Amino acid sequence: MSEPVDWLPDGTPYSPRFGDRYHSENGGLTQARRVFLHGCGLPEAWAGQPQWRILETGFGFGLNFLVTWAAWRADPARPTLLHFVSTEAWPVSAADLLRATSVHPELAPLAQALHDQWWGLLPGVHRLRFDEGRVLLTLYVGDTQAMLRQQSLTVDAIYLDGFSPQRNPESWDLHTLKAVARCCRRGTRLATWTIARAVRDALAQCGFEVTRVPGVPPKRDNLHATYHPRWEPRTTRQSASAATPEPA
Ligand SMILES: C[S@@+](CC[C@H](N)C(=O)[O-])C[C@H]1O[C@@H](n2cnc3c(N)ncnc32)[C@H](O)[C@@H]1O
Repeated sequence: MSEPVDWLPDGTPYSPRFGDRYHSENGGLTQARRVFLHGCGLPEAWAGQPQWRILETGFGFGLNFLVTWAAWRADPARPTLLHFVSTEAWPVSAADLLRATSVHPELAPLAQALHDQWWGLLPGVHRLRFDEGRVLLTLYVGDTQAMLRQQSLTVDAIYLDGFSPQRNPESWDLHTLKAVARCCRRGTRLATWTIARAVRDALAQCGFEVTRVPGVPPKRDNLHATYHPRWEPRTTRQSASAATPEPA
């Protein structure tokens, strides 16, 4: 069964399970662009690369994915392959997905394309293909920590996007962030909207250099981080330019 969603008077989707909104009240689009896309140095960072791999925790309505895909389409220096990997334990219905995303006219065709492939999302790994396979969306349907522990994955950027750490602590705890760090190469950039002390400390413990940056309203501050452990990570992770594109 799909995850039930409530709709606030301003049109923002709200989770009765977590008692929190899916996007900030200023609109998910600004948050997606400024907190996550720009927060990871995109689109500049992917210019001229053969591929760019992004891991998101918490797919929700896919706004971050759609905004990233739209930026990729608009960029003449885009990587040949955009691979967006996201975790989601409670997928919403296709109708709710379309309702939340199609209110943004610039995203409407992409939202429709996502909606058309949004079915049969049972627990496990699902691969959706867009733009002739040059944009891949891999959905890990299940708990973030459990799913990431089972995968061997290396990414160039990370969007951390659970509900608030008070309401959704398991999305931000040390064990989940360790599973996220396992997916990093040296230099992987991470962005999120929370500057909660516990999250900053856990990221630092996992090998990230953490910086507090001016926030996107309603947040006064946001958080940027780069994976740069003082130790040599056990697995040798490839740099973006050295990596081989994954099969479509
Ligand atoms: C703030 S919303 C994400 C919004 C989304 N990134 C977007 O662009 O629309 C957080 C999401 O994380 C999911 N979530 C919360 N805890 C999770 C967990 N432990 N494992 C996987 N997904 C989780 C929720 O179901 C929700 O969809």
